[in-house]
Amino acid sequence: MDEDMWLHPATQRNLGVLRGFGNLILEVAMGELASGLFGPGRMLEPEQILAAIEAKLLGKQLLAGKKVLVTAGPTYESIDPVRFIGNHSSGKMGIAIAKACSDAGADVTLVLGPTAVQVPPSVMVVRVQSAQEMYDAAISAFATCHLAVMAAAVADYRPASVAQEKIKKAGETLTLHLVKTPDILKACGVFKKADQILMGFALETNNEAENALKKLHEKNADFIVLNSLANADAGFGTDTNKVTIFGKSEPPTDLPLMQKAAVAEHLVQMVARRFIDLKNVQF
Ligand code: PMT
Repeated sequence: MDEDMWLHPATQRNLGVLRGFGNLILEVAMGELASGLFGPGRMLEPEQILAAIEAKLLGKQLLAGKKVLVTAGPTYESIDPVRFIGNHSSGKMGIAIAKACSDAGADVTLVLGPTAVQVPPSVMVVRVQSAQEMYDAAISAFATCHLAVMAAAVADYRPASVAQEKIKKAGETLTLHLVKTPDILKACGVFKKADQILMGFALETNNEAENALKKLHEKNADFIVLNSLANADAGFGTDTNKVTIFGKSEPPTDLPLMQKAAVAEHLVQMVARRFIDLKNVQF
């Protein structure tokens, strides 16, 4: 179909309804359209459609032979031996992605911040506490992975120094001097090779789309998955999420409120299609 028809609110709303019923939607491809315009609307390549049908009907594994790195959970930045700066991430979104990738046949390394949420045994877990530890573990796994998904909520700042003893209560105020932590997604964006897929997340409270697009370009990611704290039952701690996926060359995809497991499966389908595209491109 032509771009205007694909992007028309009625088409998108009806696709949302079908997705809500649990149907698998194979999205259109980007490229030259019958009208001569360039945009989303082309039929997928038969190879891509076949791969999706085989995966769905024959249980064929979409990410067989692929190495995947996932970061998940919060980081804890120590203030003293008893206190830290942290956030509300449970790790559920990233763990669901690690599971979906492993179910799709990938060899998955999950770099996981502090959480009590269970990880399936098929996933190799590297447990970390701080942003620096997450950075070290993720960067060393990134070099050999085909896909990296950064779903962790990493602290942007840490205390400049960690007190050796518990800080005693004194005075009405306490000032902490904070310094920046390394940005894992951004560093991966610098090291990224043409055949690696890099996906980040963005958790926003305002100007969501604008901030997500800024992250997509500034961090050289291939995709940014936006979730907003403005949506009920989405983001931190919930079993469900409502996301919009931003890519560099396609219009954003809005998914309805879904189980995090279903969001993860959608992302696996999407990157599997991208791997087929990459196979057809000469570097
Ligand atoms: O864990 P759950 O309870 O299931 O919640 C899921 C989630 C809300 C944590 C997840 O869906 C999510 O949105 N994760 C990213 C949250 C976030 O901190 O976003 P950000 O906008 O600060 O960071 C943007 C991207 O850069 C993220 O991919 C983040 O992992 C990455 N980043 C950020 C800072 C940093 N120092 N290093 C990074 O890699």
